[in-house]
Amino acid sequence: MISSAPPTLPADLRAFIEALPKTELHLHIEGTLEPELLFALAQRNKVELPYASVEALRAAYAFTDLQSFLDLYYAGANVLRTEQDFYDMTMAYIERARADNVRHAEIFFDPQTHTERGIAIDVVFAGIARALREARDRHGFSSAMIMSFLRHLSEEDAFVTLDAALPLRDQYQDLWNGIGLDSSERGNPPEKFARVFARCKELGFHLVAHAGEEGPPEYVVSALDVLKVERIDHGVRSEEDPALMQRLIREKMPLTVCPLSNLKLCVVDDMANHNIARMLRAGLAVTVNSDDPAYFGGYMNANYLAIASALALTREELLQLARNGIEASFIPAAEKARLGTELDQYAAAH
Ligand code: ADE
Ligand code: ZN
Repeated sequence: MISSAPPTLPADLRAFIEALPKTELHLHIEGTLEPELLFALAQRNKVELPYASVEALRAAYAFTDLQSFLDLYYAGANVLRTEQDFYDMTMAYIERARADNVRHAEIFFDPQTHTERGIAIDVVFAGIARALREARDRHGFSSAMIMSFLRHLSEEDAFVTLDAALPLRDQYQDLWNGIGLDSSERGNPPEKFARVFARCKELGFHLVAHAGEEGPPEYVVSALDVLKVERIDHGVRSEEDPALMQRLIREKMPLTVCPLSNLKLCVVDDMANHNIARMLRAGLAVTVNSDDPAYFGGYMNANYLAIASALALTREELLQLARNGIEASFIPAAEKARLGTELDQYAAAH
């Protein structure tokens, strides 16, 4: 498991990273389902699993590409049945995030993964939101929900999901502010969802999309031009197109990069070759995120530690990554300013 940085990282830099106030902008809640909880929910809901033990399940997390991961990720989500299940999963993530000094998280959830199995969309919203509201009230942990469409399904299916979710909008207006696009990227270009994204824009949602993870830089361009997204999720393949790189810099377009995910899904062969440091140094608004931490071997601190160690990031660069995360977040200006001040104070004190 890649849960800690190699020993080359000096202890003071490690402590600096661990206590750094962070935002997480690219996190699939279904990807936080740790094998232990997955087994517990299977038992609670009397779901049979094709694995004899937690260890056997964890051992199956050896992925060769995005699809090999998605197959297990969708199968794992099958244990989620009740509102309490979604609550428990979300609360477990919040505890991990708080331990990593995450102050604010924008959380993807995939209703189609659940409605396809006969789980009502209200159950999904209610369980996730109950945990997020409790965390806000008890700990000041701030968050938002980004409902994501599965791109391997049709645009019509996405419209059906949107229509099912919209009656819930008022009830979750304190949390649900965004729309995303995820799942199998290759062969499912952004333009497949042009009309549903246009509708979501009219409705006033923030828009994001996965692009340039496994798919080509052209998908990043069409996510920007056709879907009109405000952030690109992943976007690491943008580097193959110099004109696109210039555009991303010019437009200050945030990329929510997920280093351990990229390593686990063979988007990069070695963390030492990850382009996040090059992109940061070129002036892109890159941010650090954990994507599906239960499957990829680490939460936020593990991601920061892995890149700091492999790419020799300085404190200033680490602060810039954290600052980019605050800037790129969809939080009210006052809250953004508060997080920015906290980061400034942290920088001054270290
Ligand atoms: N769904 C969950 N994680 C994903 C990823 N990294 N890329 C695309 N879809 C996803
Ligand atoms: Zn993702």
